Amino acid sequence: MILSESQKTYISQFKDKVGQEVHVNGWMYNKRPSGKIAFLQIRDGSGFVQAVLEEAKVPVEVWKAADEATIESSVIISGIVSKHPKQEGVYELQTTDFEIVQLAPEFPIGKKEHGPEFLFENRDLYLRSKTPWAVLRIRDQVFRSITNFFHEEGFIRFDTPILQPTSCEDTTQLFGLKYYEDMMYLTQSGQLYSEAGIMSFGKVYDFGPVFRAEKSKTRNHLSEFWMMDAEMAFYDQQMNEDVQERLVKRILKDALANCEEELKLLERDTTIIKNLLEKPFHRMKHYDAKKLLQDNGFEVDFNDDMTTDEEIWIGNHFQIPTFIEDYPFAVKSFYMKRYVDERGMERAVNADLIAPEEAREIIGGSQREDDYEKLKSEVVARNYPLSDYEWYLNVRNYGSVPHAGFGIGLERTVRWISGVHHIRETIPFPRTTVLSRP
Ligand code: 4AD
Ligand code: MG
Repeated sequence: MILSESQKTYISQFKDKVGQEVHVNGWMYNKRPSGKIAFLQIRDGSGFVQAVLEEAKVPVEVWKAADEATIESSVIISGIVSKHPKQEGVYELQTTDFEIVQLAPEFPIGKKEHGPEFLFENRDLYLRSKTPWAVLRIRDQVFRSITNFFHEEGFIRFDTPILQPTSCEDTTQLFGLKYYEDMMYLTQSGQLYSEAGIMSFGKVYDFGPVFRAEKSKTRNHLSEFWMMDAEMAFYDQQMNEDVQERLVKRILKDALANCEEELKLLERDTTIIKNLLEKPFHRMKHYDAKKLLQDNGFEVDFNDDMTTDEEIWIGNHFQIPTFIEDYPFAVKSFYMKRYVDERGMERAVNADLIAPEEAREIIGGSQREDDYEKLKSEVVARNYPLSDYEWYLNVRNYGSVPHAGFGIGLERTVRWISGVHHIRETIPFPRTTVLSRP
């Protein structure tokens, strides 16, 4: 029943096996009987293929087994690989043998249209379908691009803790849990720890799950998602944006090169992505972005964050990732470096990167406050317990340097590239404000 690696062929290898007999371990995705011929849709994890089975060409028990096999039954199938008569780059299997490993009972996800709620309540089974297969393979590619990029750029991976005694982003968004006699919180970002890390390693990144207890129900928010935080010593904000731009271009190039089949399966029109690869990303100030929006009919608040509609409009307008720089400090995190602009407003030295095609913010980053006294007074001003942040202030006490960093949301990035409607498609088992099983 189990074929060894040397006995078996994966569907993804069919292009090199035309004319040869191969053996596949897999599942029957679907089937279409047509008189004395049956068309079996087989998947094996590496891909999907149509197997053609002709009654006249196989022993009677083979024909019978295929007739009995239900959707999602596990199977061993053998056959000769052939080119699809009409579709370029598509292969088929001319079946010589077929055996059921386990006969599956009726599969809950059938051919009829199911609503998204049903599919997510049955996420463990829905994962076998083509859309999650394609999207989660793109996710795997994005993950690899990010880790390859950072190692090539001289960063080291620096794992930050998931259980943290303090808040990084916003104290109201924490999931707390009892930790022996005390309280700890699930991390919102490894950034504060990465800042301690650069004082030893210069350039570090982490990559892991983070948690936000915000009650946002948009198609861009998860309660548990994966974030990569990068942090660099002796860096200013413009250098920080340069790294982000190289990273995002690398991710996009790799996805176009290595996920062709997945993007095709998702019917993703990649024109906009292809067009932006050789151009510099747009960079503009928060004030100018708000002004532009106002000139285009928005009722804007110059003192506030960008709204969902504003981010979507900016993305559609420029059709290229756009750094919105220098937000009002009041709406940003305590650790950001700040200055007072010519209009007397206190601004952060930061940027959010807004992606086109309604992908919205995919990166948040900033230059960090490197002055001990200024940062300490901000901790006090925000009523954070100073004793919890003493170790973090040490970064500024012993050999402080200008430094900067950013966090990229893995799922937001995958949502953009894959073009799926809802961010929950981009993670195997999504966690949102709704309690989910599985
Ligand atoms: O902008 P955020 O909150 O930035 C930070 O956490 C910084 N400490 C990062 C840093 O400088 N090291 O989050 C960073 C990114 C966002 O741009 C977005 O892509 C993603 O994380 N993100 C979310 N993704 C899915 N669901 C949510 N609820 C998200 N919140 C943020
Ligand atoms: Mg942000």
